[in-house]
Amino acid sequence: MRRKAFWPQREKEYSNRSNLQRSRGVASPSSAQSLSGKRLLLIVGGGVAAYKALDLVRRLRERGARVRVVMTEAAKRFVTPLSFVGLSGERVHDDLFSPTDEQEMGHIQLSRDADLVVVAPATAHLVARIAHGLADDLATTLLLATDKRALLAPAMNLRMWLHPATQRNVATLRADGVSFVGPEEGEMACGEFGPGRMSEPLDIVAAIEAALASETRLPLPDGLGEARLDGALTGRRVVVTSGPTQEPIDPVRYISNRSSGKQGHAIAAAAARAGAQVTLVSGPVALADPAGVDVRHVETAREMLAAVEQALPADIFVGAAAVADWRVETAPDKIKKSATGRSPELVLRENPDILATIAQRAQGRPRLVVGFAAETRDVIGHARAKLDRKRCDLIVANDVSVSSGVFGGDRNEVHLVSGSTIESWPRLDKSEVATRLVARLAERLQRAELGETP
Ligand code: CTP
Repeated sequence: MRRKAFWPQREKEYSNRSNLQRSRGVASPSSAQSLSGKRLLLIVGGGVAAYKALDLVRRLRERGARVRVVMTEAAKRFVTPLSFVGLSGERVHDDLFSPTDEQEMGHIQLSRDADLVVVAPATAHLVARIAHGLADDLATTLLLATDKRALLAPAMNLRMWLHPATQRNVATLRADGVSFVGPEEGEMACGEFGPGRMSEPLDIVAAIEAALASETRLPLPDGLGEARLDGALTGRRVVVTSGPTQEPIDPVRYISNRSSGKQGHAIAAAAARAGAQVTLVSGPVALADPAGVDVRHVETAREMLAAVEQALPADIFVGAAAVADWRVETAPDKIKKSATGRSPELVLRENPDILATIAQRAQGRPRLVVGFAAETRDVIGHARAKLDRKRCDLIVANDVSVSSGVFGGDRNEVHLVSGSTIESWPRLDKSEVATRLVARLAERLQRAELGETP
């Protein structure tokens, strides 16, 4: 009888949430095996929301996942390890120095033997410890030792969440490749209202499914080789612009800029390695065409726009070219020094903005439109303004002042600026920036298609 009374209630929850869940690709109870064979390491932090982690384990197991649970000391004050043993069907780990655990399965092994590490709830203190690379208990040691991606579901008081220290920690973790789901806005256990509530278990399940659909191994640290992209963009179409444009003054002279095309070409190459069908529209550069990429060579901004439009439709457009903002009213013949006896004046006309044109297409707009912002000061401020003005989804902003050495150099230090977040990456090889960016775009595309804010 009790079981009967229970299930109709669950059905109701599913039907209330069905639109959201369908759009997020969450399995219904009957199509339960979406995580079949996946191994998840769930780290439970010490917050009131720990009770929701119990339901999360149940939902994950329903979908066929194997869940190993690690609890912090604080978590055990809110829920008992026994409940997790019952729900996960596995023993629960909580002790960094347990001799029996080390004998059965060392903590390094535990950190590697998973497809994804999930932290739910991620309390402010746990977020801070992870961001600072502390390893003072089993949970944080595992997070430091793992080679797998981590997905954090924060839960804390709204002031703790909004505190600059927490926001700094979150930005650091994002830059390290950590993903987040939530927190949500709502009434909290402490009675206050605002952002800080842990996402509901089904939303965390959806985020786990999305994370597992893309590359889940962390890129190797600098110098140890490239991240694997594992077909993250198989079946996708990607159009990339790269290099400078050249705007003729007369048949022998032109105006242009210092762009080398290295970053744009590296992005096209990385997208191709991720399995995408890539068209690279390149201005004049001294680089070889990347392998496996369809390259269209152009000179002027207007030719670049035409080539991009011809290459559409696409899932992703990346405008990495340094497009000349102006073209010159071109003289039909070579301008002679002796013609007038004075220096000629160049009449400039504004070029079309390729990025804005593609981002604002009424029909056939690529799902993700990504621009670059080459700035010499107030990098983030200008990037945000560009994001709004051009209406693209993401701006990759970088400092191109002469002292930065970015133009023409092999390394780049970028900030990923979207409507709600800023991610700052360390100075990396342009090929590593490209690989990470492509992995990020694959994730965002996936999320956008699941109806989430990319
Ligand atoms: N861009 C473009 N077409 C243009 C100018 C720029 O597609 N005519 C794209 C670039 O490829 C880049 C982004 O817009 O992705 C920003 O380029 P940037 O030169 O930094 O910005 P501008 O719009 O030219 O603004 P400003 O020069 O005033 O900073």
